[in-house]
Amino acid sequence: MPSLNEIRSTFLNYFEKQGHAVVPSSPLVPRNDPTLMFVNSGMVQFKNLFTGVEKRDYQRATSSQKCVRAGGKHNDLDNVGYTARHHTFFEMLGNFSFGDYFKAEAIPFAWNLITKEFGVPKDRLTVTVYHTDDEAYDIWKKLGVPDERIIRIATSDNFWQMGPTGPCGPCTEIFYDHGDHIWGGPPGSPEEDGDRFIEIWNIVFMQNEQFEDGSMIDLDMQSIDTGMGLERIGALLQGSHDNYDTDLFKSLIEASADVTGVDPYGDQNVHHRVIADHLRSTSFLIADGVMPSNDGRGYVLRRIMRRAMRHAHLLGAKDPVMYRLVPALVQQMGAAYPELGQAQPLITETLEAEEVRFKQTLERGLKLLEDEVNGLDEGADLPGTAAFKLYDTFGFPLDLTQDALREQGRGVDTDGFDAAMAEQKAKARAAWSGSGEAADATVWFDVAEAHGATEFLGYDTETAEAQIAAVVLGGAEVQTANEGSEVQIALNQTPFYAESGGQVGDRGVLRTENGTVEIMDTRKTADVFIHIGKVTKGSVSKGEAAVLKVEHARRAAIRANHSATHLLHEALRGALGDHVAQRGSLNAPDRLRFDFSHGKALGPEELARVEAEVNSYIRQNAAVETRIMTPDDARALGAQALFGEKYGDEVRVVSMGRQDGSGKGTGGDTYSLELCGGTHVRQTGEIGTFVTLGDSASSAGVRRIEALTGQAAMDYLRNQDQLLAQAALELKAQAQDVPARIKGLLDERKALAGEVAQLRRELAMSGGGQAAPEAEDVNGTAFLAQVLNGVTGKDLPALIDEHKSRVGSGAILLIAESDGKVAVAAGVTDDKTATVSAVDLVKAAVAELGGKGGGGRPDMAQGGAKDISNADGAIAAAKSVLGG
Ligand code: ALA
Repeated sequence: MPSLNEIRSTFLNYFEKQGHAVVPSSPLVPRNDPTLMFVNSGMVQFKNLFTGVEKRDYQRATSSQKCVRAGGKHNDLDNVGYTARHHTFFEMLGNFSFGDYFKAEAIPFAWNLITKEFGVPKDRLTVTVYHTDDEAYDIWKKLGVPDERIIRIATSDNFWQMGPTGPCGPCTEIFYDHGDHIWGGPPGSPEEDGDRFIEIWNIVFMQNEQFEDGSMIDLDMQSIDTGMGLERIGALLQGSHDNYDTDLFKSLIEASADVTGVDPYGDQNVHHRVIADHLRSTSFLIADGVMPSNDGRGYVLRRIMRRAMRHAHLLGAKDPVMYRLVPALVQQMGAAYPELGQAQPLITETLEAEEVRFKQTLERGLKLLEDEVNGLDEGADLPGTAAFKLYDTFGFPLDLTQDALREQGRGVDTDGFDAAMAEQKAKARAAWSGSGEAADATVWFDVAEAHGATEFLGYDTETAEAQIAAVVLGGAEVQTANEGSEVQIALNQTPFYAESGGQVGDRGVLRTENGTVEIMDTRKTADVFIHIGKVTKGSVSKGEAAVLKVEHARRAAIRANHSATHLLHEALRGALGDHVAQRGSLNAPDRLRFDFSHGKALGPEELARVEAEVNSYIRQNAAVETRIMTPDDARALGAQALFGEKYGDEVRVVSMGRQDGSGKGTGGDTYSLELCGGTHVRQTGEIGTFVTLGDSASSAGVRRIEALTGQAAMDYLRNQDQLLAQAALELKAQAQDVPARIKGLLDERKALAGEVAQLRRELAMSGGGQAAPEAEDVNGTAFLAQVLNGVTGKDLPALIDEHKSRVGSGAILLIAESDGKVAVAAGVTDDKTATVSAVDLVKAAVAELGGKGGGGRPDMAQGGAKDISNADGAIAAAKSVLGG
């Protein structure tokens, strides 16, 4: 008997041999569909290949696709556990042709695999074709299927559509007859819903495309999309009609029996089945990035988890059960889906945290439910208000309450539940509008009420398809916004991050079939993400599908800055102490800013150490991990939370970096652990480089560090380099100039010295600032004597000449002092040299001034002396030489 793992391999190998590329399953959260909550069939990842919009390097593919049908359009959740074939998670085996082979090959491929490879007896098989599809009919007939077992079906059962729009076409289905011991009839018969005839394979002839306006066209390409549930073919090949009777499910059911101690196949079997099924969907959803929350996909996950927990509770489990079953699942499915093993710690932790948490209210909720039910008439529905109380106070998803009542044949007044929910929202809104925030945000409360919170996909992707929930112009909702309008758009889901926690909103582009919007910012009000932008082409309308693309380089830079901020926070705590707490931050594409409590400026060395530490954790290139937990659990782990921040029931905890042995860091082996809703790099190495721009005061007791990462840091460093290089060049040029400059200075000095001498002369000639003396007659000779301050001996001859020409005929005596030196000069005009000699005059004067000698010619003589105090005596001595 082949195991499910073997059947999966046989299928993929068979088609690989027929020239098909074996393509891995896509993640459960679709990126390429605006409305689909979870991937629900194999063709979703190939959607655009059928319409020819996308091309890949293969035209034939085969896959085993993870599918979830819980929440959204296809929701099998309520039936799981109670039927033989309903699952929240299943694997769809498929083969695909993209404009390559068509009906004539697709049908024999399937027939041969089932009847030859799998050895299913032909007489157990019945097929259906779309009522007008003679071609398919004839192919089956040629393969030997008798007419009575080729059934024409006129309904949509044999016209397959992925959703309201997209590729579609008629199909042919293969049914297996489990035998007349089971109730049911062939397809198309009144008993077709019985378990006897089971559809095992659907082959879709993708030849049409359906549009939103209801029109349908023929596609240029004719393609094939097929789907066979692994669990169904598995049950068949293992001799059962019950999917839960297969090797894989039995091992999970036995694991559940092991941990609960309850017989796997007794009357409690339904609970084990629910647990086994829900274990698969919850684990795979967590592995694909879905985290429990109160909205959207996260809420579907939570509903499945809690539903499983109630069934574990019914098995009498006192302690958490689900998380202990993860190893059994990984053992069964980890080889086919490596992501499961990789995410095992995250799955285990998320399941356990949810179980521990829900346990706190589960019993009290069930007690309340019991009390409420006791007061009800036989078979009466539970009032909506009671169901709402269970939801609101005890965390009971509505379907959990319904599931609990189902066993008693009761329902829930869902209208009453909806009314109670609406009332609560109205109260929240009233409280909010009373809080004085902008009145023009009212429109977003209307949008939130009509469409719920926007689901954020941007932790895992930067592109996604979404559906436009609201178009707002000037604060009011409109149907359409045309080219040129400044518009605000809300969508059911988005990869755009809305500004919060210091991280700026994303920018990018939104495209619909009819128009393009440049998104300049994204904000959030009432949990609705508001895409703010301008219609740059055509128009956009409410209800349209849109492709959203976040501006990648900008987001990557923001991510790097945000992750670096976490490392910086931890490095500062390590360097300065535990009092360091975040007081504010900005994570923009071009820089980061971190404000923190600390009393004094950081010295350059402290700053350098912090910077070096951040860079060392960047180089460590450790994985950045995100977990969801209650704020209390997060704090207990040592996660850094924002002071005064109000956190919801659940928080994301982002951890990065492994302890380097220095004993630094907060979260055990983890270096940085913070409550954070922002987007982060996957590995710290993506931050690249971290450079601080310095530290400044932000407010009293709060410092601010600004820093750069990645390319911005590189550009900054390069720029600093250039500045340094430029400064060096300037210095060098200046050094080369030095000899010339010295020469210049010397020349200047010489010129100045010349100027000084000239000035001195002028000064001396003007009498050294003293009034020019008058000559007096001494024994018939005109005699002029003068005492000069600040004039040197060098300057005296020129002065003598000057005075000679002034007196015309006579004798002159000048006594000058400068810098403690005394100089004496005498001059005699030529007409008088016969009677008196300048040399005699000088000698006589010098002798009076404490000097000796003196010499020259009869018309001009000079001498030096020491003491000017007897200048009058010297003049008198000169006069007596003249005979006066
Ligand atoms: N896409 C087809 C299905 O899901 C094969 O049934």
